[in-house]
Amino acid sequence: MVTHDLTVRAPAKINLHLGVGRVRDDGFHPLDTVYQAISIYDDLAIAEAASVQLSMRVADYIDLAGLPDDDDNLIRKAVAAMERHHGRELPVDLVLDKSIPLAGGMAGGSADAAAALLAVDRLHDLQTSDDDLLALAAGLGSDVPFSLVGGTARGVGRGELVSPVDDAGPWWWVAVPSTDGLSTPAVYRHFDAMRPDAPEVPASADLLLEALATGEVVRVARALHNDLQEPAIDLRPELGDLIELGEAEGALRGIVSGSGPTVVFLCDSADGAHATGTGLAAAGHPVVLTATGPVAGVHVVS
Ligand code: C5P
Repeated sequence: MVTHDLTVRAPAKINLHLGVGRVRDDGFHPLDTVYQAISIYDDLAIAEAASVQLSMRVADYIDLAGLPDDDDNLIRKAVAAMERHHGRELPVDLVLDKSIPLAGGMAGGSADAAAALLAVDRLHDLQTSDDDLLALAAGLGSDVPFSLVGGTARGVGRGELVSPVDDAGPWWWVAVPSTDGLSTPAVYRHFDAMRPDAPEVPASADLLLEALATGEVVRVARALHNDLQEPAIDLRPELGDLIELGEAEGALRGIVSGSGPTVVFLCDSADGAHATGTGLAAAGHPVVLTATGPVAGVHVVS
């Protein structure tokens, strides 16, 4: 058995504001978004090896079969990107412990990619600059740079251009994943069909940013916004019922996370989150995760 040299931890993300504009010529959508990293984590352990090896373990609410183990796996793509960048082979053994729901709108794959970039860099002491890591991350996916940065950050462009923002949190969240994931491209395509009049400039995140800086949870709850919520609920009407249920169970506000189908509820306190979570579980939702945010981006834990 391989003894791993270090472990890197990567948080899930949610979008507190997701303004989406009309699709660009390159197929991506212009975004004005506010990401927050929350305390649901994937851990990636790494050791030197003769060739790149990847094994995966998942939490009991995740279906391992939904996780690609081939070249499509973002962890393998991240290692390959580091090999190209540094012009050398970087054979490593990786073990992923996954708790972030799959295809859930919580950037689980992006978190793993960001973890792999950092893990390979630290294991081999490559001293990749932050700018280069962010550029490599952006090449792997729109959400990957945020996974490196963590905390609370505004994302523009296609979401890859991130800058930290003032956040007077912590905030308490309850996350309810679905057993069946939703494909991000499919939700964006449905957005295009439902919103042919979408403006070129996405809805501004300013209101949400002001609310975050005040520390007033009721203001943050009111300002939460997601332009992908309508298409996600149109594809999965039960998500609308879930939002209503969580709000009836005491959450200040429920919102689809990113492209869904995970729904997150903002609560007024730790006790409030516990009560909402208990209510949702009693109403038949088997997987209810409680989390706080903001938390650090990808970091070495051991
Ligand atoms: O960048 P990432 O690989 O995570 O994006 C996955 C898919 O989500 C893209 O191929 C595109 O269909 C959609 N997307 C988009 N606009 C964005 C980000 C993602 O249309 N800003």
